[in-house]
Order: sequence, then C-alpha cells, then structure tokens
Amino acid sequence: MAPPQKMAASNTWRGPEDFRWPAVAACSPKPPWGRGADGGEGEDVGQEGIANAALPQRIAQSGLPALKDLCPAVIGLGYVGLPLAMALAQTRPTIGYDLSRGRIAALRDGTDTTGEVAPDRLSAARKLPIRLTDQSGKLTAANCYIVTVPTPIDAHKRPDLAPLLKACAQVGAVLSPGNLVIFESTVYPGATEDDCVPALERASGLRLNRDFWVGYSPERTNPGDPAHRLQDVVKVTSGSTPDAAGLVDALYRQIITAGTHPAPSIRVAEAAKVIENTQRDLNIALVNELAMIFDRLDLDTEAVLEAAGTKWNFLPFRPGLVGGHCIGVDPYYLTHKARAAGHEPEVILAGRRLNDRMGAWCAARLVRAMSAPGRDLTAARVLIMGLTFKENCPDLRNTGVLGLIEALCEHGLRVDVHDPLADPDVALADCDVDLIAHPVPGLYDAVVLAVAHQAFRALGPERLRALGKPGALIYDLKGMLPPECSDLRL
Ligand SMILES: NC(=O)c1ccc[n+]([C@@H]2O[C@H](COP(=O)([O-])OP(=O)(O)OC[C@H]3O[C@@H](n4cnc5c(N)ncnc54)[C@H](O)[C@@H]3O)[C@@H](O)[C@H]2O)c1
Repeated sequence: MAPPQKMAASNTWRGPEDFRWPAVAACSPKPPWGRGADGGEGEDVGQEGIANAALPQRIAQSGLPALKDLCPAVIGLGYVGLPLAMALAQTRPTIGYDLSRGRIAALRDGTDTTGEVAPDRLSAARKLPIRLTDQSGKLTAANCYIVTVPTPIDAHKRPDLAPLLKACAQVGAVLSPGNLVIFESTVYPGATEDDCVPALERASGLRLNRDFWVGYSPERTNPGDPAHRLQDVVKVTSGSTPDAAGLVDALYRQIITAGTHPAPSIRVAEAAKVIENTQRDLNIALVNELAMIFDRLDLDTEAVLEAAGTKWNFLPFRPGLVGGHCIGVDPYYLTHKARAAGHEPEVILAGRRLNDRMGAWCAARLVRAMSAPGRDLTAARVLIMGLTFKENCPDLRNTGVLGLIEALCEHGLRVDVHDPLADPDVALADCDVDLIAHPVPGLYDAVVLAVAHQAFRALGPERLRALGKPGALIYDLKGMLPPECSDLRL
C-alpha cells in the first residue's frame, strides 16, 4: 500500500503563529522530507563513538532525514521531556508538546512545577528556537518525534501503556514519510516494536523501516540531583535499522556531554533501562531486610553497613522507603514480560513485596518504641517530615511515605505531615494528605525524618528536636543526623 501523503511535506521550520516565543532559526529546507535528501557536506555525525564517515550518505539513501534537518517535537513535557526539549533547542528548532493545557500555560509563564528547569533558565529559553504547545495539530512542523510520556502501572500492578499508546496515536496522525520516532519512556523489552510500532502504523497508514523509523533511548535523569542531569549521564541509544540507530545516536551526541552508548537493538536498550531500576529496587530490598534482622538483633544497621562497606566490592545501598514512578514501578514491567515469556519471577517480586511493606514496618517499629506500660498512644501526635518520594524533588507519585502514614493512623496515632517542596493541592488531591505549612514546635511525641530534603538538613539536629515535646522520639529514616542525635534510625 502506498503511504498516504497526509502532511503538506515542508521541511522548513513553521512555528505556529500562536506561539508566544519568537520564531528563530529555520530547519534547512530540503524538499521533500527524507526522499533524496542528502546527508549534507561536513555533517557532524559525531566526534567519536559511531565514527562512520559513510553514515550521512547512507542515511540519505535510506530515506531518513539528515541529522542537520531533524526538527524534533518532544511529546510530554514532564520531568524527562522538558529538560530534553530545552537541551535540543540549544542545537536546533524544537517543539515541546504536552496535552496538559495547564502545564503549557505554566511553562509559558515561566514556571516549571517539577523544579527541573529554574525560572531564569526558562525565561532565557525565550531566546531559543523552542515552541511550546498543547495543540497536537502543530506537530506537523516536526519530522522527528520523541515520546516522553508516563508509563505507570494499573491497580493490579500491570503495565499501563494507555498514555504511551495515546501518544502513538497522536504522533501517527501527523506522521509523514521519512519521519523518525524515538521513545524514551521506560517500558519492557519489546514494547516499542510490538506495541508502539503497530499503533503508529495503524494511525498513519505508514510502514516501519520503509516509510518511517523508530528508535529507543531511555532516560536516566535523576530529578532533584544537579550532579546527574540529562547532559551528565551516558545515554543508551538504538534504532530500528542500523541507519536509524546511527541517526538517533548522532542526535543525542549533540546534547549529551557524557556521550552515548549505542545498543545493538531496541530490545537491548529497553531491557537495559528496566533492569537498572530493578537492580536498585532489589538491592534496597536486601538492605531493608537486613535492617529488619538487625533490629531484632539490636544492632545498628548503619554501623554494620559502614563496616561491611570497607570491603572493595560491598555495594553502598542504604535501607529506606521505596516509591516513585521508576524504582517502585519499572520492575513490574519486567516481571510482566517475564511471565508472558513463561518465566515466573521470584526474586524480583520478593524484593517488591518487601519494599512495599517497609512503611508499615517502620510504623510498627516507631509504635513499639513509643509504647510504655499504661501509655495511651491514641493521644500521641507524630510529625512526619517529608512526603515526596525522594529528596529535593516535589514529585509525589507513588511516594513510600504514604504507607508509613497509613500504618501510623491504623495504630491510632494523630499524624501531621510537613513538606515544603510538595504542592499542598496535589498532596490533598493525589495522596489525601493535608500538609501543614508550619509545624508547631513542642507539639509532637515523635518526629519522623522521612525524606532527606536539603531544607530539613539545614534545620540541624537541635531545631528538628525542638519540634517535639521534651523527651519526644526522633526517628531518622534517612540517616540525616549523626547517630547520637536521633533515638531510632533505620
Ligand atoms: N522522572 C524521572 O525521574 C524519570 C527518569 C527516567 C525515566 N523516566 C521515565 O520517563 C517517562 C516520563 O516520566 P516523567 O517523570 O517525565 O513523567 P511526567 O508525568 O513528569 O511527565 C509526563 C508529561 O506527559 C504529558 N502527557 C501524557 N500523555 C501525553 C500525550 N499523549 N501527549 C502529550 N503529553 C502527554 C503529561 O501531561 C505530563 O506533563 C516515564 O516512562 C518514566 O518512567 C522518568
């Protein structure tokens, strides 16, 4: 079947008129898209890595756009997509698309609620050739689509590909011959080729590796951690043909200072991402179990880990609540695929179960420490410091602190939660937690340091202790304080 020519194929940059930010550089015109486009003299396909001088010419023959003609549109401007779109816009005209009108409006007003892009960088971006939109029709101006939408799990802890497939349908509706679609969302091995490509083909009427190409390049950014930003971490790249893989790699090498790692296939790249977080989840599960054992043996877990850590190959994991949309979710993508392939995962799911009950275990440990003969704990008040799933980040998705709160409430304690980074409205809507803005000093029977925000560290041991009544317990789940400054720690 001949591919439909849905788009008036123009490879010049056509910033839609309603964009507020000024139009700047144009993608070099080379009609029509792909077919016959030459690779361009002196095209930079990388200083190292895939040092393949013939690549531009091969890409031209394959029907793929030349590297210098790529006009990317990033689909989904969250923790992953916004920094990516900003980085791409340093090198070429870029569209940032999010279906959330509120998200686009906030970004246009200079506010990134994820905290990943500071207001000054966001306003400086007005000088960049980046266009932000919530109109999917505006995506026709791109010839490369990079999908960074969420990949959550459903109530039964199965992969929920609905946002990803919706994004595929949207991209498919604007896909033209010669286009490239790159997926960054975390998935199980095979999802790009077995789930996303059919959705793209259905929506576009085009065929993979004849009319359009796909790539997969997982994201490794660590929100709230300025040392591990997009540019600082080696990026794994892959593509549906060697030429597509080369083009994907060359595109990322322009923005990733740390370099890239071209994987031999899309499935390898997908598997690599999902095992990174699975390995971390399992390692934390092991130390969480060690913490439970050492608690019974009356041993200080941190002291044991410090001693063991003096061996060269002892891994420096620490116990804690595990949450978020990555470590607590991604292993289920792998176990889903494992089951589909006829393997019943044991170790991975055991780790998940243990990490999922860590909040309840910490609550029981605190209650045991607070209990005294004849003491009625129903009047006791506990202050939890931190609700987000990780430090220095406002993200509340799947936060492990919720398990702790629920278990303490089930024990009959009155719980207040304070988190200066979390959005109170989101906390109430998504977590059913009414955050307190200013904890009253001297009110609490126990203070739990649940999230190691820099703002809490800055308070120091004395001010943290002053939040409790005289004799109140300080439970340090994150090793924030010197051992002598807390009464209990994980
Ligand atoms: N946040 C991280 O630390 C991190 C790190 C590595 C990988 N990842 C993975 O990256 C992916 C994205 O995660 P995130 O944290 O950026 O998610 P996010 O929720 O912060 O952002 C996703 C954005 O996509 C938008 N969106 C959803 N469906 C859309 C659609 N069809 N079209 C356009 N926009 C759409 C949402 O409105 C939202 O703004 C996930 O697969 C995640 O597992 C995240």
